Amino acid sequence: MHPMLTIAVKAARRAGSIINRASQNLERLTVTRKAHSDFVSEVDGAAEEAIIKTLLDAYPDHSILAEESGNSGDASKSEYQWIIDPLDGTTNFLHGFPKYGVSIALLHRGVLSQAVVYDPVKDELFTASRGGGAFLNDHRIRVSKRTQLGESLIGTGFPFRDFTHMEAYLAMFKDVIPRTAGIRRPGSAALDLAYVAAGRYDGFWEMGLAPWDMAAGCLLILEAGGMVSDLEGNEHFLKSGQVVAGNPKIFVQLLQIIAPHLTEQLIAENRPPARHAK
Ligand code: IPD
Ligand code: CA
Ligand code: CA
Repeated sequence: MHPMLTIAVKAARRAGSIINRASQNLERLTVTRKAHSDFVSEVDGAAEEAIIKTLLDAYPDHSILAEESGNSGDASKSEYQWIIDPLDGTTNFLHGFPKYGVSIALLHRGVLSQAVVYDPVKDELFTASRGGGAFLNDHRIRVSKRTQLGESLIGTGFPFRDFTHMEAYLAMFKDVIPRTAGIRRPGSAALDLAYVAAGRYDGFWEMGLAPWDMAAGCLLILEAGGMVSDLEGNEHFLKSGQVVAGNPKIFVQLLQIIAPHLTEQLIAENRPPARHAK
């Protein structure tokens, strides 16, 4: 295992222990509302602190982009940036709904190079290094082989905080439902993407995501032989917050269904002005 991935796994497992411990006593947690339908607890902060400490103890010069504490370190000076979601699926966690996880990715010169998604409930550890394949608990994983959308299980995420793209999303949803074997919305984008990598879903799409929701999951999919893009099929998914993913055949079919529903605003989100992360 790449040494940086080993450290990321250590960090993810530490966060997982904090999350598991707290899940035994949910009613004792203090929950704060960050925005509409956006809740956070002290567990998010404690897990994030443990992750950042583990990463910076090993690599003090690396920079960080983390959901709760934002940017730290100097991203312009360091070639390495860790992208962290300490608890993806907070709403599920707070309700005792067992679909949440830890997501840690490493960008090297803007390119995704290491990824960990950890499900502390099932003790499932998804890992990938660029060029080294994707793994679930040390077993190699690959995207599914299904070619027919009609036989496919598709994951998605509904808008629930920002409703700007609600109409466009619902139009896509309406078109995807009758063409597939089923749609799921468990509520943790990081796990959803890991499930595409593991072949549990054949495809996935969502919009309005943050880089920490998807960075690790996207590398897992690419390393498992799948494809990832924004809603238009471009590479700028990390910046746009939009993602379409799947095995190569289902990915293409999903993009075709989505295309007629793209609005000008959605397309504009795919045109980031600055440098793009791949
Ligand atoms: C959320 C989850 C959810 C997705 C949201 C994310 P959080 O992350 O990944 O599935 O639909 O867009 O923000 O807030 O629980 O870390
Ligand atoms: Ca998240
Ligand atoms: Ca989170």
